[in-house]
Formats: sequence, structure tokens, C-alpha cells
Amino acid sequence: MSLLLDEIAVAAARLAEVGVDSPRADAELIAAHVHGVGRGELHRVPDADFDPRFWDEVARREAREPLQHITGHAYFRYLDLEVGPGVFVPRPETEVMTGWAITRLTEMDVAEPVVADLGTGSAAIALAIAQEVPRAQVHAVELDPLARTWAERNIASSSTSAPHMAGRVTLHGDDFARALETLARSVDLVISNPPYIPVGASVPPEVGEYDPATALWGGQDGLDAIRVVERVARRLLRPGGLVAVEHGAPQGTSVYWVFAEERGWRDTRNHRDLAGRDRFVTATWPGGPAD
Ligand SMILES: C[S@@+](CC[C@H](N)C(=O)[O-])C[C@H]1O[C@@H](n2cnc3c(N)ncnc32)[C@H](O)[C@@H]1O
Repeated sequence: MSLLLDEIAVAAARLAEVGVDSPRADAELIAAHVHGVGRGELHRVPDADFDPRFWDEVARREAREPLQHITGHAYFRYLDLEVGPGVFVPRPETEVMTGWAITRLTEMDVAEPVVADLGTGSAAIALAIAQEVPRAQVHAVELDPLARTWAERNIASSSTSAPHMAGRVTLHGDDFARALETLARSVDLVISNPPYIPVGASVPPEVGEYDPATALWGGQDGLDAIRVVERVARRLLRPGGLVAVEHGAPQGTSVYWVFAEERGWRDTRNHRDLAGRDRFVTATWPGGPAD
């Protein structure tokens, strides 16, 4: 055993005691971040190089600050995104919905598919689509100015590190209820992970104290923003266009009915996340009156 591995074991026990979900992994990732090594290299850090700032960062996690705010990074599909105060930390469940969208876009017989990401936060969904669907043009809409600064930063750094992504994500500082008017009836796919938690629901401290309120709360039943996304998708999609919307695990049936045939939708489907919970709804817009 090395000093660092001993300290990690103590830190993991402390994190477990305060209810952190994955205490050992978090302790290791904090140690790797502080010592500037990969997680698989922790056993190689010499005792003399142990950095006591490890304990400052463990204390932050003990106070339930999200791991991603401590390291400054969130991984989303093949992206390494910068995150911190003021922006929603992208979640693994959203990777599944994004993967669905990427597959559909790749199958579409459209040279340069046009995508709208409503409520882009860190730009996770928008950038993943730009990265994995080479000719897609993505319009990312975000109302919150602070979240937008993180999106700008991630869009800029992806353009530098991957020149093929340059200019393919356009950020719009707007309310998605009225955004992208010039794109009416021309968008191939609308995707959104909107705020969907019912007001008053209890959430872990990492969420309630660190994710911005505009990213979380969706009104009495949690569906306020999802209803707006449904209306906006009807306005934006071209005939045959697709929509994908994330929701909370208990909301699958309610969201299915938001995208009802009576409103003109076809092929409405529920999809599960990797844990087998209802997580997103998709539907096809066959055309016809948008309102
Ligand atoms: C749950 S977060 C999702 C962020 C990102 N798409 C992701 O999956 O990580 C919802 C985002 O929608 C933004 N938002 C909420 N209401 C909005 C509105 N009416 N117009 C534009 N953006 C909105 C929030 O500020 C927040 O960044």
C-alpha cells in the first residue's frame, strides 16, 4: 500500500458516512485530479508526492459539492466538458437520449441535418451531436446568462481541439418558447432535456444546492417546460422531423400523452435509461398545422 491509497481509503469511508453515492470512486477521482495522474496510476504516486490539498477537496465533496465542480470537468459521451457554478452538470441518462438522436440523424437521408437543442446548459447534447454527426448544424438555445458562459466556453474549446466541429453549433441566448423563429418547419430533430422536477420534490444536496434552479423545476407536475417543448417542436419541425424529450422516471405516461395523436404526433414512444427507468419520449411530426 502507498500513503495515497491509505488516504483514499480513509476519505472513501468519510464520504460514505455522509451519504455520497459512489464514495470510493469519488475519492479516487479527487486524488487523481489533485495529483495530476490518471485514476489507474494512483498506486504509482510516491509517498513524498502526496499533496495535502487532497483533504481540502475531499472536505468539499463531504459537504456534498458535486464531484464535477471540484474537478471542473464532466464527461459526456466522447466529450470532456468544463462545468462549475451556474451550469447544470450533464448526466449519464442524457447520454442515452443523445445516442438515440445521433443514430436517427445518421440514418436520415439529409445532407446537413438541422438540430435544435432546447435548454442547452453546458452545450453537452449540442456538442455531442456536432461531434458524432459530421454534417449536422446544431442550434443550441439557453435562457440563463451564466449557463451560457459555460456553453460558450465549451463550444469555443471544442472548435479549437476539433476543427471539424467549428461553426457547427450556434448558441442562441433566448427563451426556447419563442426561439428560432426563422427555422420554422425546417428543423430535422428537436431535442431537449428541460427542467422537469415537480416543485416541492426532494432532491439530493448536490442537485438542490448546486444545479441552477432554472435547470430543475418544472412547475406543479414537473411538465410545464415539456409542454412548451412540445409546442415549439410542432412549430420547428419539418414534415417527418423527430423530437426527443427527457423526463423524470415517474413521468413516462404523462409525457407520452403530451405528444398525443390528437395534437398531430405519430409514433410516440417511451424509452428507458441504462438503469431500466422510463427516461425519454420520442415522436414524429408528420406535418400539418403547427398550432
Ligand atoms: C436540465 S438542464 C439541461 C442542460 C443540458 N441540456 C444537459 O442535458 O446537460 C435544463 C436547461 O434548460 C435551461 N432552460 C430552462 N428553461 C428555459 C427556457 N425557457 N428557455 C431556454 N432555456 C431554458 C436551463 O437554464 C438549463 O440550462
